[in-house]
Amino acid sequence: MSLPSTLSDRLAAALRAEGIDDALAVVTPAADTRFGDFQTNAAMVAAKALKKNPREVAASILDQLKVEDLCEPPTVAGAGFINFKMLDRALSEAVNFVRNDKHLGVESLQKPKTIIIDFSSPNVAKPMHVGHIRSTILGDSLARIASHLGHHVITDNHIGDWGTQFGKVIYGWKHLLNREALDQTPIDELVRLYREVNALEENDPALKEIVRHELVKLQQGDVENLEIWKQAVALSWKEFERLYGLLDITFDERLGESFYNDALAPLVDRLLAGGIAQVSEGAVCIFFPDIPALEEKPCLIRKSDGGFLYGTTDLATLEYREQRWKPDAIWYVTGAPQQLHFEQVFAAGRRMGITTDLRHIAFGSILGQDRKMMKTRSGENVELGGLLHEAMERALAVVVEKNPDLPKAEQEEIARLIGLGAVKYADLMQHRLTDYVFSWEKMLSFQGNTAPYLQNAYVRIRSIFRKAEAEGISLESAPIVIADSAERALALQILKFGEVLHAVLDDQRPNLLCLYLYEVANAFHSFYEACPILKSEDPVRSSRLALAGITAELLKSGLSLLGIGVPERM
Ligand code: ARG
Repeated sequence: MSLPSTLSDRLAAALRAEGIDDALAVVTPAADTRFGDFQTNAAMVAAKALKKNPREVAASILDQLKVEDLCEPPTVAGAGFINFKMLDRALSEAVNFVRNDKHLGVESLQKPKTIIIDFSSPNVAKPMHVGHIRSTILGDSLARIASHLGHHVITDNHIGDWGTQFGKVIYGWKHLLNREALDQTPIDELVRLYREVNALEENDPALKEIVRHELVKLQQGDVENLEIWKQAVALSWKEFERLYGLLDITFDERLGESFYNDALAPLVDRLLAGGIAQVSEGAVCIFFPDIPALEEKPCLIRKSDGGFLYGTTDLATLEYREQRWKPDAIWYVTGAPQQLHFEQVFAAGRRMGITTDLRHIAFGSILGQDRKMMKTRSGENVELGGLLHEAMERALAVVVEKNPDLPKAEQEEIARLIGLGAVKYADLMQHRLTDYVFSWEKMLSFQGNTAPYLQNAYVRIRSIFRKAEAEGISLESAPIVIADSAERALALQILKFGEVLHAVLDDQRPNLLCLYLYEVANAFHSFYEACPILKSEDPVRSSRLALAGITAELLKSGLSLLGIGVPERM
């Protein structure tokens, strides 16, 4: 059991002895480490309910609390916080436990949930733009962390493979297609068709009508148009897959919008028949008179021309997911501009009787150096593939400069890990709702809160081990003994891992994990400066080596939960 859980168990016993609800036995890392390592506000919360003086309640809890084997006598501070300063002996025991635990002290959930994570979801015949980049990176990391904690996670890539863009794509395919370009760079060619037809249509109402007709034919099942659509989707998928492969991202399902086509009409009919939806000016809407924010913003599910909408598909998707997986929660990882859309879909879902915890995991934009939405020099959306390749190229230049003698293949592999890691980390380290300025210099720097800094901390530890081996130093496991204050600080960081992961999922914020890993690396560097490892004598040497070893494992595991790999040297 982890140290905070052991403390909270003891606290729970003391609370029960005092007739206080033991659900209050929550122990967290101390806000101010001058007063202790851990703290609890249990006395303050209990005092409020009991209408008593919190410091007196704290004192009576302390009378019952048996923790002499774990910490110094606990103290009461401020308005009634109870502080715990751990004994070195207890810390040693706790890190030895982490060292032998394959989950590094991270406790699995007692009540795992089934969570569907809807993320990435790019659109066919349109390049993935920075919004999809953020969704892809964020969604993947949340999926990794949730599964790591024991949740049953289903990842679903809800791609936009059915929509008005196909009228233009099909018209372009029939009249303007460059086969060779389609073979080589399919998404670029599809996008070119889309843009070109878009421009041609602008001043040509007759063409607009023809293009619209191509779309209608597709929707009505015209064989030729369906065939073109199928090919366009398949080619786009191939390209998306290549990017996901590069990013080491997989999906359990890839049920795009088209999967729900046949469900739309019956769904709307059912909602009308059930009185959940109403006809309004020829269109069909779900109204929310009881939700002030949506009072004037009904969810439109069928246009007056009979066409269905993004929201209709989302409701059909929701119904399908409910029936197939009976999830406890569904997380939609999509940019902040879609907030209203999801408010409407969720409200409509509740009207349909769905009680699942539905969450829009919104995020902000990636900005260029001019603090406007990031665009290429020619003013287009930044395309993910190009961005990732530039990241790897830039990283390769750094790797070659630092390690000119490594074989080329190894240099390239290291550059891949650094480059892709840098892009992912730069995104994940931000609070998801803030907009951030994209900066190659910053994200590829070996200093500061960056992926290369953390990867480098891992590499440094690995090189200590290689050196130990070369010097014939035994790596046999002697117990870890915490004595120095820098060892203490590192041990306390290591013990926080599980709690941080749970906190990430409370509000879907991987940036908490980034900050934590950065603090672990910093604590390691302070430890490394203050406490000689290989130059000390056993048993101190093997204790310190083991502490370094856990740190490396933890950095590797934490980074992998962000979807980031580590090289063995760099
Ligand atoms: N394809 C959509 C877009 O690019 C995102 C889909 C998000 N998921 C959903 N179930 N609506 O904006």
